[in-house]
Amino acid sequence: MTTFLNRQSPFPIQPLLLSRVSSRAFSTERLTEDELMQLFEAARWAPSSYNNQPWRFIYARRGEKEWDVFFNVLIDFNKSWCQMADTLVLVVSRNLFEHNNQPAPTAQFDTGAAWMSLALEANAKKLVAHAMQGFDYAAIKANLQIPDTFTVEAMIAIGKPGDKAALPPEIREKEVPSLRKPLSQIISKGKFIFT
Ligand SMILES: Cc1cc2nc3c(=O)[nH]c(=O)nc-3n(C[C@H](O)[C@H](O)[C@H](O)COP(=O)(O)O)c2cc1C
Repeated sequence: MTTFLNRQSPFPIQPLLLSRVSSRAFSTERLTEDELMQLFEAARWAPSSYNNQPWRFIYARRGEKEWDVFFNVLIDFNKSWCQMADTLVLVVSRNLFEHNNQPAPTAQFDTGAAWMSLALEANAKKLVAHAMQGFDYAAIKANLQIPDTFTVEAMIAIGKPGDKAALPPEIREKEVPSLRKPLSQIISKGKFIFT
């Protein structure tokens, strides 16, 4: 049994996995460039098919000239808490293998692994990394002139943890670690049973 606040795993797993949460409470304290690079470095070591490493990270730091391009495409709910984030990262994946320019069927899977490496490294360092789907994919693709050979996957808000009590009530109430489906609903031995 491993526990973290209201989370309980019936099996012993690494505490780092249970304590990773997508917080929306950021401090105004800045990350150093080095702290930010350490997170990308963690992502770099993710596994990928053919070791193709399809993940790419385009980032903007709050207060610098690129910030508005990233921030302005967020939906209003995400803007409300991301305004305090230190860095916004757009995660994209290359759709084609580099060795033959043929479609890479696991590019998104591989890039998801890289995001999780980043998120776990952030958690280990007591930093916040919060992935988002709530933004205008077409707009950021156009604004950053991302070609069709790449897929825009997600945005990540990164920063130092802040005071949850300072959040608006409707956001504060979400600062409870989310739970998960039981194993019985996500695994099946030998046959497909899912709906
Ligand atoms: C790809 C992805 C997109 C997400 N999009 C948003 C989003 O747009 N806004 C938001 O507030 N949270 C977003 N989340 C956070 C999820 O709601 C959160 O990961 C999920 O509820 C599980 O909670 P946990 O990460 O704290 O364990 C996203 C998470 C992922 C992985």
